[in-house]
Amino acid sequence: MSIKKESRVMLRLNFEISSALDKFLSNRNISAKSVQTLDEVTKALTEKSYNVVVTEISDPGDTLTKLLTKIKSISHTTEIIVVTDKEVEISEDGELAKDIPLHDMVYAFIAKPINENYLATLILKAVEKTQLADRPHCENSQKTIPKETRGTKGASDQAVVLSASVNSLNSAVTITDINQNILYINTAHEKMFGYSTEEIIGEKSAVLYPADDPSGVSGKIYEAILMVGWEGERLGLKKDGSAFPMYEKTSVIKDTDGEHIGIVSVIDDISSRKTLELALKESEERYRTFIETAKSAIIAIDEEANIILYNPAAEELFEYKTDEVRDKEFFMLFPEKHKDLLKDKHTLKNGNKDSFEPGLMFESEGLSKSGREFPIEVSLSRCKIDGRFVLTAIIFDITERKHMETQLLQSSKLAAIGELISGVTHEINNPLAVVIGYSEMMLEEPDLDEESKKAVVSINREAERARKVIQNLLSFARKHNPEKELIQANDVLDTTLGLVNYELIKNKVNVIQNIDPDLPEIVADPNQLQQVFMNLIMNALHAMEDSTKEKDLTILSKIKDGRENFVQLIFEDSGPGIPADILPKIFDPFYTSKPKGKGTGLGLSVSFGIIKEHGGDIYAENTGSKGARFIIDLPITE
Ligand SMILES: Nc1ncnc2c1ncn2[C@@H]1O[C@H](COP(=O)(O)OP(=O)(O)OP(=O)(O)O)[C@@H](O)[C@H]1O
Ligand SMILES: [Mg+2]
Repeated sequence: MSIKKESRVMLRLNFEISSALDKFLSNRNISAKSVQTLDEVTKALTEKSYNVVVTEISDPGDTLTKLLTKIKSISHTTEIIVVTDKEVEISEDGELAKDIPLHDMVYAFIAKPINENYLATLILKAVEKTQLADRPHCENSQKTIPKETRGTKGASDQAVVLSASVNSLNSAVTITDINQNILYINTAHEKMFGYSTEEIIGEKSAVLYPADDPSGVSGKIYEAILMVGWEGERLGLKKDGSAFPMYEKTSVIKDTDGEHIGIVSVIDDISSRKTLELALKESEERYRTFIETAKSAIIAIDEEANIILYNPAAEELFEYKTDEVRDKEFFMLFPEKHKDLLKDKHTLKNGNKDSFEPGLMFESEGLSKSGREFPIEVSLSRCKIDGRFVLTAIIFDITERKHMETQLLQSSKLAAIGELISGVTHEINNPLAVVIGYSEMMLEEPDLDEESKKAVVSINREAERARKVIQNLLSFARKHNPEKELIQANDVLDTTLGLVNYELIKNKVNVIQNIDPDLPEIVADPNQLQQVFMNLIMNALHAMEDSTKEKDLTILSKIKDGRENFVQLIFEDSGPGIPADILPKIFDPFYTSKPKGKGTGLGLSVSFGIIKEHGGDIYAENTGSKGARFIIDLPITE
């Protein structure tokens, strides 16, 4: 603050303060005149011009209004500083009397007890203001002076523009002296913090900050700003006691000698930005959690079909870690046979808008890192991020669903054929019973000649054979009730192997057993299970019959992976495997690839019926190294 030319200040204060101020002001080339009464004030004003009048007033009512009006009418450029008793209340809207806004008349309004330094600073500021207003080239600026600066007739363009500019800012501006006493706030500050200029001037700037700001800047800030200025986020404290996040920039004000004379700070309320940031963070968090915990694989790809997002469920399904697939082509997750089709469908890459479009859902096959192919369902959606298209694929592993579908189909086929068979066998059983009965009666006939006897024996044998076939068909049609008991599947396996041992040795088949000795017992019909095991072993044996390489039959028993209430039995051979086009048909009744008369094509369908009857599951697949694998799952408790 520099006082350029001789200035005068009138003091109507108590003696002690007056003399202290007198000394302070004369050191700064300002002459001070002390007066006692209000009359003396007006008298002195008519004799000489004064830049500033400082007066104590105990009655803010009429006396003050009259005094202010009088002073302004004698010298409207004189700035007035009013000192009141602490108890003196100023009306809330800052007006002393109707149509006389306080800030139009009074430069500053301070309450006792007087802080001498603060008052001295205020006086200097007021003097400075009058000097700026005194400059000759700013006479015409009155027209454009905003409300806040009215009364400063003759103020310089610079000062007016400066004041108007600061007031038009959306940012709050606080100016304090070096001791952090507030000297000035702008209009935005009033709105932001809720204090009027009158009530905040002279207060410590600390009232604008909560004592417990978690950012911790409050304590350190003062030192920092004196050196270099400060910029950052911290909390502000409104008049109503509520805290709000703000962004503050402070810098030191220096006089022409480089001496620090005050601090200016520009403040922006960043509550809405913070709320937005928080909402964004929360939504990102929700989105991330959704992606991370989703049961389905979620993969996002860019316009080049390169993977940009790959969730933990995708890691599990495809066995690749995120790092192994990031920025790699999406198509690496599909078997060769599907790649071309998918590439064709990839809208983003080939511009074919109709094919790989969002909302599209299709079935395909996935390819895992270990080479496993599995059925999947892919659902696509597309969004635009930063002007680039991102395609998101949600991928479901539908192995289980496909499996259920085929099993259901198989069951319904069997049920239909079962109905048919039981009807037909009933019709055949009766005539067969007659044939068998009469042939037996005839064989007891003593007069029967040898040739006739041979013929009747033949009739009886063939009719018996037919009855056995009918019985088999009936057992297939599941009209036969299983006799279930608590058994050990390993034991049934043992007995079955004993029965076919001779056949196996004759055909040079190595039986490799991998049996879990602690396999839990199950409730099942041992004879029926034996029939199933026998069918599978015989099928394997037939499949390997013509093989020139090692004939291996591997039998496994264990608790099913991931489903502890199921036992699993696996029969694996080293035969030619099952051709892909035949695989869906092998459980069909009467389907056989064997030459006429060699197979009935009922073995697997009977086995299927039995296992289903036991609440289990039976299915076939090809092993990686040729050969077929039959898997049976049976529930431990029924
Ligand atoms: N281990 C296997 N390896 C290759 N193909 C198999 C195997 N097991 C079954 N198959 C195929 O499944 C078909 C159906 O088998 P299924 O046991 O139902 O009838 P089958 O063996 O032909 O006749 P049946 O069992 O009545 O003597 C077989 O004909 C064969 O083509
Ligand atoms: Mg068979």
